[in-house]
Amino acid sequence: PPTLADLAERHGRYFGSATDNPELVDEPYTARLGSEFDQITPGNGMKWYATEPQQGVFDFTNGDEIVALARANHQKVRGHTLVWHSQLPDWLTGREWTATELRAVLKKHIQTEVRHYRGKIYAWDVVNEAFNEDGTYRETLFYKTLGPGYIADALRWAHQADPKAKLYLNDYNVEATGPKSDAYYELAKELKAQGVPLHGFGLQTHLALQYGYPATLEDNLRRFARLGLDTALTEVDVRMQLPVTEEKLDRQAEWYRDMTEACLAVRRCVGITVWDYTDKYSWIPAFFPGEGAALPWDEELRPKPAYFALRGAL
Ligand code: XIL
Repeated sequence: PPTLADLAERHGRYFGSATDNPELVDEPYTARLGSEFDQITPGNGMKWYATEPQQGVFDFTNGDEIVALARANHQKVRGHTLVWHSQLPDWLTGREWTATELRAVLKKHIQTEVRHYRGKIYAWDVVNEAFNEDGTYRETLFYKTLGPGYIADALRWAHQADPKAKLYLNDYNVEATGPKSDAYYELAKELKAQGVPLHGFGLQTHLALQYGYPATLEDNLRRFARLGLDTALTEVDVRMQLPVTEEKLDRQAEWYRDMTEACLAVRRCVGITVWDYTDKYSWIPAFFPGEGAALPWDEELRPKPAYFALRGAL
């Protein structure tokens, strides 16, 4: 059968998966990772704690391994992520910074990493998870020290370091219209008006059956397209409360189908990435106790109803 990537390419889209370095020794896993998808995202390897473990000491080993694998398999890479409040190195969170100091640290981090990967990254998640649920700015180290201007600065610095890479803001719980996605819409409008290099909006799309499907997804994608931005579903999974039942797997499959249809309906929704493809390597059980089974392939790498729904929708 055609792969998800083949089917997506017929629509001018990509279909990708996240992956992580420890899994790459699993041969049946890497075989499918290499054949089914035309885009990959490193799940951890390009985060700040991994890439600058000591101040000014950079380590791109993990990211490089994934970029090399992607190159061998003719896959695009989404870079994830340059500025985020989570998974920061201790040297950065363990002391106070003046605004002048932190600006210099942030600029150096962004430019060293983006320059290292120049020409190899299709799109960067430059700033991840900048807003709270109510649409106010998240009070991160960066926001508290630098104010909201850190976002425009980060985009400009990344653009200088790789002018061809598409630059994204990325977040979760922004699939439906509402206070959080509205905040991104307003910010994106402002940044575009100011000529800040912003090219896309990433919707993580970590959904959960118990919270309902974001029915306004398509409208939401459309309004960002009207601002002149690409959109992408960047970290898709659909978790459920365990145990798994046939009914839940069927509902999950419908959600995968519906989000794919929403993306295909909006010209500038450029692709879909699952946050790994098999339940064997999903982050969900560790972060949401009692939940899981969120991905289109099960723990034995067998396709689930969600996989067949994706094929049907693409
Ligand atoms: C997750 C990884 O999958 C885990 O391995 C790690 O322990 C924690 O982070 N939103 C994001 C991703 O933007 O970076 C997160 O990835 C999942 C939530």
